[in-house]
Parts: sequence; C-alpha cells; structure tokens
Amino acid sequence: MNLPPFRKSYGGRVVLDFPGGELPGDGVCAVIGTNGSGKSTLARLAAGVLEPDRGCPGWPGRPRVGYLPQHSYPFQMSVRANVLLNAAGRGRKEARERADALLDRLGILALADKPAHHLSGGETARMALARLLMRDYGLLVLDEPTAAMDIRSTALAEELVGGYQARTGCAVLWITHSLKQARRTARAVFFLQEGQLAEQGPAETLLTAPRTEALRRFLDFYAL
Ligand SMILES: Nc1ncnc2c1ncn2[C@@H]1O[C@H](COP(=O)(O)OP(=O)(O)OP(=O)(O)O)[C@@H](O)[C@H]1O
Ligand SMILES: [Mg+2]
Repeated sequence: MNLPPFRKSYGGRVVLDFPGGELPGDGVCAVIGTNGSGKSTLARLAAGVLEPDRGCPGWPGRPRVGYLPQHSYPFQMSVRANVLLNAAGRGRKEARERADALLDRLGILALADKPAHHLSGGETARMALARLLMRDYGLLVLDEPTAAMDIRSTALAEELVGGYQARTGCAVLWITHSLKQARRTARAVFFLQEGQLAEQGPAETLLTAPRTEALRRFLDFYAL
C-alpha cells in the first residue's frame, strides 16, 4: 500500500513534508524520530483525522483505517463497555466474546467490569488497543501504542498486533521510540527528522547500516 504525499504547516511553519512512501503488505512499518519530528502529524494525516495544507482530511483510495491516538481516552463506563463501543455490527454475544478474548490476550480480562477511568496508564493503553482491534481494518495506525506499557504488556501487545496483521493482511504504521521494538516488529522503517522523511527502507538494513548522518547519530545515541 502506498501512502500519498502529505504536507502540514502551522502558522507558516512546515511541521511535516512527507513525500509519500510504501507500506509493506506483509508486516509493520515502524516510524521513528525525535520528539517533534512529525510522527503524530503523519499518523493523523494517514488516519484522515487532520486536514493537510491542501485538500480535505483523508486521501484517495485509502482503506478502512483504524487509528490509535498517542493519548487514548477512557469513556466513563466499564472497561468492557469501552471495548464494545467499537463492536461494529456484531451480535451481542459474538461482540462480547471478542471483547473478552482481546482483554484476555492483553492480560486485563480481570478488569473488564471496572470503571475505565480508574485504570492506570498502561491498563488504559491496553484497553484502547483492545477497543481498536474489535474491528478489521485495511490499515492500522498506532501512535506509540506501548509507550505506557511494561515489558510484559508490551510483549502481549506486539504478539496481538502481529497475529491481527497476519490474519487480516492489513498494513500497519507503528510509531515507536523503541528501536528494539522496531527491530522486533518492523519490516520497513520511516525515519523522520524535522518534518522530513530523512530515510526509509527495509528494517534490517536501515537499522544496522544507515545511509544518512542524521540516522547514524540517532542510532548511536540509542546504543549508548
Ligand atoms: N496544533 C498544532 N499547532 C501548532 N503546532 C503543532 C500542532 N500540532 C503539532 N505541532 C507541532 O508540529 C511538530 C510535530 O509534532 P508531532 O506531534 O507530529 O511530533 P511527534 O514526532 O509525534 O513528537 P513526539 O515524539 O513528542 O510525540 C511539533 O513541533 C509540534 O509542536
Ligand atoms: Mg507524537
């Protein structure tokens, strides 16, 4: 799947000038880069929830997009009810089974009847991921889905998204600050720097043999 070019400015300052790029159909594309490099802006434009400089939100030919924002919102109802908000047209029983299976896979089934606004940060992030994965999408846009999660929950989330991707064949744009996570999950990588796509390529070459000085410095810093 090809993402089109996206450009976004605020007050005359260009915060993203993305030339377009190919997402692998058989795995994750990780988006890496420093704070403010434009990752969430790219996520919002790809998800169709932010208006680019020219044109309307959304892009021609896009598939159904499932978007997990960087900061997820718990509605004031139970955890299970939150997840069931995204039940689509399923029957009650089938929806509940799927919701509980997702909560179980993420290790929070025991919290299903708790008020969602009482959850911890990492629990809320897991609930939000379960809510998203209730439906099948052609493209998943995940903005730092595991940033608040501990190591075990992160492993569960990676496994769950991997299984979802394999089952549905969807494309996945996965923003992360963890190079280890990018190595574990991604086939392709986009490296953003100051709103530019400074480098893109297969994960195994990009993360080990950077072509640009900017990416080499970025990788060196993480290796310290
Ligand atoms: N609504 C807005 N108005 C003005 N500037 C904005 C707005 N949204 C984002 N920006 C600016 O655009 C730049 C890119 O922001 P973005 O959220 O895409 O960064 P990011 O790469 O996701 O960073 P982080 O790693 O901190 O999440 C930042 O400098 C930010 O201040
Ligand atoms: Mg961000």
